[in-house]
Amino acid sequence: MSQPHSTKIALVTGGSRGIGAAIVRRLAADGAAVAFTYSSSEHKAKAIVAELEAAGGRALAIRADSADAKAVQDAVALTAETFGGLDILVSNAGILILNPLDDYSLEDFDRMFAVNVRAAFVGIQAAARHMKEGGRIITIGSVTADRSGFPTSAVYSMTKGAIASMTRGLARDLGPRGITINNVQPGPTATDMNPNEDDHERLKPLMALGRLGEDREIAGLAAYLASAEAAFVTGASLTIDGGYLA
Ligand SMILES: NC(=O)c1ccc[n+]([C@@H]2O[C@H](COP(=O)([O-])OP(=O)(O)OC[C@H]3O[C@@H](n4cnc5c(N)ncnc54)[C@H](OP(=O)(O)O)[C@@H]3O)[C@@H](O)[C@H]2O)c1
Repeated sequence: MSQPHSTKIALVTGGSRGIGAAIVRRLAADGAAVAFTYSSSEHKAKAIVAELEAAGGRALAIRADSADAKAVQDAVALTAETFGGLDILVSNAGILILNPLDDYSLEDFDRMFAVNVRAAFVGIQAAARHMKEGGRIITIGSVTADRSGFPTSAVYSMTKGAIASMTRGLARDLGPRGITINNVQPGPTATDMNPNEDDHERLKPLMALGRLGEDREIAGLAAYLASAEAAFVTGASLTIDGGYLA
């Protein structure tokens, strides 16, 4: 049986660790040629490329700080040039800076928006120029767009709310071209962004399933949205949170 993404070319931003790395692995396992960006985890990025190539796949790691719009545009161009096009963009790279209201600096505010929001828009703008009918764009937002849950998270929640509304807006721009765009909203997921075991224990009772998510579970939803089967889903924010919002 042919793989769901054979002949497809994908770019995942922030693919060196966590949810992004799981999406890279899943799209590659489904047959896609996969490029991904990273900002600092060079060893991990190279190890993923080696792993995917050893399994017979095509992979490319690109150092591109999402805070730098030109670096994101160049990563899109390099992907299309290297693999001969672009069918799937997963805008995943994100950072989390938590601080109380009184202490939240403008520098941190601007960095949060540069990485979590501006880079997503810039990457989508650049990627859509390469996409044909059937193109797929997936943003990784967060359940915090709908429920902040705890103090200090207002700016992060704001960036993820912006991703949800951008996704709705761009569905209208891209729909006439047969390109879909959807937003995956994970709940608490066990990655480096969520490293503290005490936090995990505090979160578990808030989850209907009593546990945090795993990166490969989030990757499964992204892979579905990237598939031909998801052709009628667009502009949606899909929550995958173990019942955190339930
Ligand atoms: N974990 C959760 O509970 C959770 C819940 C909801 C939503 N999310 C969202 O899911 C996405 C992935 O989160 P995660 O938990 O997998 O985080 P993570 O484990 O911290 O991994 C973040 C990834 O993004 C890359 N990255 C960070 N800053 C970057 C920058 N400036 N430029 C380029 N790449 C950058 C990192 O690469 P380097 O190591 O090279 O910097 C890494 O590959 C984020 O958008 C996050 O907001 C996470």
